[in-house]
Amino acid sequence: LKRYYRDYKNYKDYKVKDMIINSRIIVIGNEKGGCGKTTTAMHLIISLLKLGFKVGSIDLDSRQQSLSRYIDNRKITASKELDANLLIPEHIIINKNENKNSIDAEKEEVSSLIDALTKLADMDFILIDTPGSDTHVSRVAHSYADIVITPINDSFVDLDLIGQISAETLDSIRPGIYSAMLWEQKVKRASEKKKEMTWIVVRNRLSMLDAINRRNVEVALNKLSARFGFKVAPGFGDRVIFKELFLHGLTLHDASTLAKKIRLSPSVIAARQELRDFVNALGIPEINEKLKNAA
Ligand SMILES: Nc1ncnc2c1ncn2[C@@H]1O[C@H](COP(=O)(O)OP(=O)(O)OP(=O)(O)O)[C@@H](O)[C@H]1O
Ligand SMILES: [Mg+2]
Repeated sequence: LKRYYRDYKNYKDYKVKDMIINSRIIVIGNEKGGCGKTTTAMHLIISLLKLGFKVGSIDLDSRQQSLSRYIDNRKITASKELDANLLIPEHIIINKNENKNSIDAEKEEVSSLIDALTKLADMDFILIDTPGSDTHVSRVAHSYADIVITPINDSFVDLDLIGQISAETLDSIRPGIYSAMLWEQKVKRASEKKKEMTWIVVRNRLSMLDAINRRNVEVALNKLSARFGFKVAPGFGDRVIFKELFLHGLTLHDASTLAKKIRLSPSVIAARQELRDFVNALGIPEINEKLKNAA
């Protein structure tokens, strides 16, 4: 942490507050790998595009680049299915900087992030997908977020990164590594007199079968929510459709227009409702207004 602060001071020249960014910045983050960040990011991006917003996206996961692969797959499908009129965000990848000096590499990555934000500055929303690990540029991105969305699998293993939980009472004993990191970004935002960051946790891959685990996670999550100040959004069920969509670059929204690729099954219809409820629960007035008009 000390090193981070030292480095951060050196980044003063790069502060985002020097840019004119009117967009809302949404960071999808959780240091836990495989909890559904990229899947959530893609679905939120397409939801916002469908509502008529201008959306830019940034892939900070320089190693896997799953969001970029997802969007590439969508471009291929769009070029074959012209009638489907698939909406695509303005997308930028932040590549890993290969500078041998790690401090310089981190600075270059932050500088690339700021360039990307500047390029996307006239978008309504900028969504940033982050890696399932702690990187410097990901921390900086979190400090720029108006909203952080954290998907978690419905498991105490995932919850541990948010808060360590007592097995007896399900109370939180101490902050987990991710909430501690986020707390630092909140403090930093406050010191720079930036608007307060909203933190939203969304449960992912909810199982219909393990009712006891599901209830216990809910109890613990509500206690963590009160302690760490995040909101819990309605979650997504564990559905095989999410795995199938990636190859075509499609989302649940595209089921009606591309019926030959996505069958509008009861599971897809239920998942679409979950997605609508999630977007609604973000509590962003201009989104809610458009959702109401679209209903
Ligand atoms: N609700 C869901 N139901 C079923 N499968 C899901 C669901 N959400 C995500 N998945 C699957 O779980 C896996 C991990 O999802 P995803 O890549 O979105 O997670 P991630 O947090 O971005 O991972 P990483 O930390 O590696 O970047 C993928 O195979 C994805 O298709
Ligand atoms: Mg990912």
